Amino acid sequence: MVKWIKRIAVILVVVIAAVLAYVKLMLPNVGKPEGIQISATPEMVKRGEYLANHVCVCIDCHSKRDWSTFSGPIVPGTEGKGGETFTPEFGFPGTFYSQNLTPANLKTWTDGEILRAITCGVDKNGVALFPVMPYHYYSHMDKEDIKSIIAYIRTLKPIPNKIPLAEPEFPMSFLINTIPEKACFTTMPAKENVMDYGAYLVNAAACNECHTNVIKGKHVEGMDFAGGREFIFPGGKKIVSANITPDKETGIGYWTEEAFVNKFKSFEDKSKLQPYKSSKDFQTIMPWNMYGGMDSTDLKAIYAYLRTLKPINNKIVTNTIVE
Ligand code: HEC
Ligand code: HEC
Repeated sequence: MVKWIKRIAVILVVVIAAVLAYVKLMLPNVGKPEGIQISATPEMVKRGEYLANHVCVCIDCHSKRDWSTFSGPIVPGTEGKGGETFTPEFGFPGTFYSQNLTPANLKTWTDGEILRAITCGVDKNGVALFPVMPYHYYSHMDKEDIKSIIAYIRTLKPIPNKIPLAEPEFPMSFLINTIPEKACFTTMPAKENVMDYGAYLVNAAACNECHTNVIKGKHVEGMDFAGGREFIFPGGKKIVSANITPDKETGIGYWTEEAFVNKFKSFEDKSKLQPYKSSKDFQTIMPWNMYGGMDSTDLKAIYAYLRTLKPINNKIVTNTIVE
């Protein structure tokens, strides 16, 4: 009997060691970067600028944000320089820094390496990136759109700014290797196909990522777009994402298309944003100012898609002061 227990224990140890070694040494396995070379056209750069600033909002995370103003608009002149930090006090499993996207950093990267980073979640050297950056959503975009984004970030003003590497805490330091995945590109639906086109944009903007509650790092099942994800804001404030399902009582069921579009457009002009002086003022982490630059047709398509969601009754208070 004792002999058998010993044998089983030995087998278990060997199996566990093999799994650990596999995760540490063999993963992430998303393949080599593609050997592509993007021949940028002015149309591509324009499309990329639009997506990076107003839809995927790459520039929002990868620049300095001014939190003394509503919705933290970006500080002009810092476009792409990186350095925003995502730390354990905001609920992240370690400290992660948005990297420098300007040519000062990416000039040594091939187009294929940048494409792989944005859509699979590994850096130039194949090291796993933490999905603060919603790469699992970008991986379902049209490859042409990602190429346009790359064409655009290649045109950013180079800003030398050395950013530290990520410091994931245990066990994330280990599990992070299991997160990157091969991309699964789609074709952008025609604009006339409003519902599908809206779904494409909602994915590209990763609205769901913020608008679904997260418990222990996982989205709560069946609660997509029903809000409730909490963000602790420095200075004693908790910001909670809103319910954007068509529920009439607790979601945006009563919002007209016009009200929806106007709400976004009302934040487009940076000079009209309210100052944020203390935790008593309303604040958000939703990049309204950047989204405000979205075309009205695109916002209407997003609205049309959100109307098709299942209404979920989930009451949210988006701003509370905490001690
Ligand atoms: C919500 C914030 C956020 C958004 C939006 C975002 N990123 Fe990132 N990005 C990050 C963070 C944080 C990292 C570093 C992650 C890590 O080190 O684990 C990163 C890493 C990268 C890297 C790797 C750079 C390096 O030196 O390792 C590239 C390239 C990149 N992002 C490009 C983009 C592009 C292009 C977009 C838009 C399509 C985008 N990001 C949108 C936060 C974001
Ligand atoms: C970085 C996180 C984040 C992202 C990304 C995000 N939101 Fe939000 N959103 C919030 C938070 C937090 C609130 C609540 C505070 C506020 O009103 O800004 C909110 C509020 C809203 C509201 C107002 C609802 C109400 O009842 O007043 C709408 C509408 C909305 N979001 C739609 C969207 C759409 C559409 C997208 C994608 C294009 C999106 N959000 C992306 C965090 C986010």
